[in-house]
Order: sequence, then C-alpha cells, then structure tokens
Amino acid sequence: MEIQWFPGHMAKTRKMMEENIALVDAVVEVVDARIPYSSKNPYLDELWRRRPRILALNKTDLADPVKTELWKRWYEAQGYGVVLLDALHGTGIAQIGPMAKRLCQEKIQKEAAKGRQERALRLMITGIPNVGKSTVINRIIGRKEAAKTGNKPGVTRTKQWIRLRGGIELLDTPGMLWPKFEDPKIGERIACIGSIKAENLDAYTVAVLLLGLLREEYGELLRERYKLTAEEMQADNEQLLLLIGAHRGHRVSGGHIDWERTARVILDEFRNGKMGRITLEVPEDERSAEKNTGGEDQTVSRDEPV
Ligand code: G4P
Repeated sequence: MEIQWFPGHMAKTRKMMEENIALVDAVVEVVDARIPYSSKNPYLDELWRRRPRILALNKTDLADPVKTELWKRWYEAQGYGVVLLDALHGTGIAQIGPMAKRLCQEKIQKEAAKGRQERALRLMITGIPNVGKSTVINRIIGRKEAAKTGNKPGVTRTKQWIRLRGGIELLDTPGMLWPKFEDPKIGERIACIGSIKAENLDAYTVAVLLLGLLREEYGELLRERYKLTAEEMQADNEQLLLLIGAHRGHRVSGGHIDWERTARVILDEFRNGKMGRITLEVPEDERSAEKNTGGEDQTVSRDEPV
C-alpha cells in the first residue's frame, strides 16, 4: 500500500521546522495516544537530538488506558518527559509548563552561572497533522477559537510568541512534521485513525485493515458492539465486515450488503470511540519495527517524496 502525503512540500516544511526549532529551548511533540509510535516522527530525533523534549500523548480519552501507561513508561525510559493529554477537555495541559521548566533546569542554571539575565523559556508544539497540535496550543493559552494553521506547509506566518505564566513563551504556530511511512503498517494505522486522508485508500480497504488489527486484541469489543457470535468471529476480515453489515441491516436493493456503508460505519464508530478505548500498537511493535528497518538508520532520505 502506498500513501501519498504532501510530497512537494516536504522540503519547505522541513525548512520552516528547522528555522523555528532553532529559536526554542524545548519542544513538545504531540502524538496520538492510539498510535504513539506511528504518529511520532523520527526526524525530530535527528534534528533535536537529546535536548529537552516532551512527548505529549494526546487523545487519551480515546486510547486504552492500560496501553497508555505502557507507552508512558516506555518513552520515559528513553529520556522523554511524557504528559498524557486529553486536549479536548483540557486534561493534563497544566503539566506541560512545569515539565518544560524541569527539563530545562540545567540550561537555566548554566546561563545563570555565566551571569546572564533570567529570560523566558521558549517552547514550541510540533507533530504530524491532526494529532491535536492546535487544540493543545489553544488549551495552553486559554483560547477558544481554533488556530488552524499548522497543516499548510509553505504558508509563511509572522512568528508570534505568547507569554504564559511562569516565565514561558510559546510559539503560536505549531511545527508541522510528516508521518513516517517506510513501514506500510505505520501508514495503515494512520489511515485507521483517520488522521490523514489517504487518497488512494478507500474506506472499505481501511475498514478491513482495522478489523484485522482489532480482532487481535479487541475481539471482545467487536463481538459485543456488532453482536457477532464466536463462530462468526472465525470469518476472515472481509467476511467479518459483511457479517457486521448484515447484523446492522445495511442492505442495498436486491438484498446485497451495502459494504461501503458498513465500512464507513465501522471507521466512524472506531474513530469516535464508540467501540471503546482502543490503542492499535504496543511498545513491543516499536521494538520489532526497529529491528525490521535497521533502527536508527531508517532516517535516511526522509525528505524524499514518498
Ligand atoms: P492539528 O492541529 O494537530 O492538526 O489537530 P487539531 O488541533 O486541529 O485537532 C484535530 C482533531 O482532533 C479536532 O477534531 C480536535 O477537536 C480533535 N482533538 C484534539 N485533541 C483531542 C483529544 O484530546 N481528544 C479527542 N477526542 N479529540 C481531540 P475536529 O475538529 O472534529 O476534526 P476532525 O475530527 O473532524 O478531523
């Protein structure tokens, strides 16, 4: 499967990101808690290295709380500051500022030792499209209306710093990163959560992929939601979709299952959390993905069009 994503804009996006990142003391990378690995961008590791970095697992209201904890521990063990957010309701937002200060403590002390005057800490929010960057910014600064700015690479805006309490300044515009698609599984998971419209992937294909992922660990949720019997659960993913369509009474004239409608319903119900709180990957997957792609080396030619 191939997913195209803004290929022509990658170099511009990268340049903007590099310009902005040079101005800040700490970076907050927002990822989707349902796919904390697939929605995280390894290019930032290259660019930012081991400087103060917060990983914000957002949309925890939709994610499996047990797996969210596993991810938190996994990333903390790698040296990230980790916050768990539900930016829609504001949960966890208040931890960002104090955590940034803690992570920059050493830098602040070094500057003070050199006799430099105390200055505001500068922060920026980054992430791939739709992880909730704008919602996080709006929550931090207590703004209601959406700052829908980040997903159009190449659109230059004047940089604005927003002064927050506690001696912190936040860059108004989120830094845009692109997803990594080297591993097709990553593209599939991103398509499942609906963050990026994959033009060449129809709802049916994505819904069948999603059923394949869900049945592994969330078979019970599927059974309950769609009133499937244990025997029906043995069917392959495509048949399972048709069975769900039959249970829901999705039929077109002539009596055939309206599989397109069923696919859309499955995707909507998953994305809106109606099936329950679900996470599509565990740290174990990250380990095996790194093995498959040769780990760190996978960052080569990342700004080539995919
Ligand atoms: P971005 O800047 O990273 O591109 O993301 P943005 O803030 O625009 O958020 C994308 C969508 O995700 C928005 O929904 C937003 O309300 C939702 N969202 C953000 N944070 C959370 C969260 O913690 N929990 C949940 N459940 N949703 C969150 P939208 O405007 O309805 O867009 P869409 O869902 O139609 O794409």
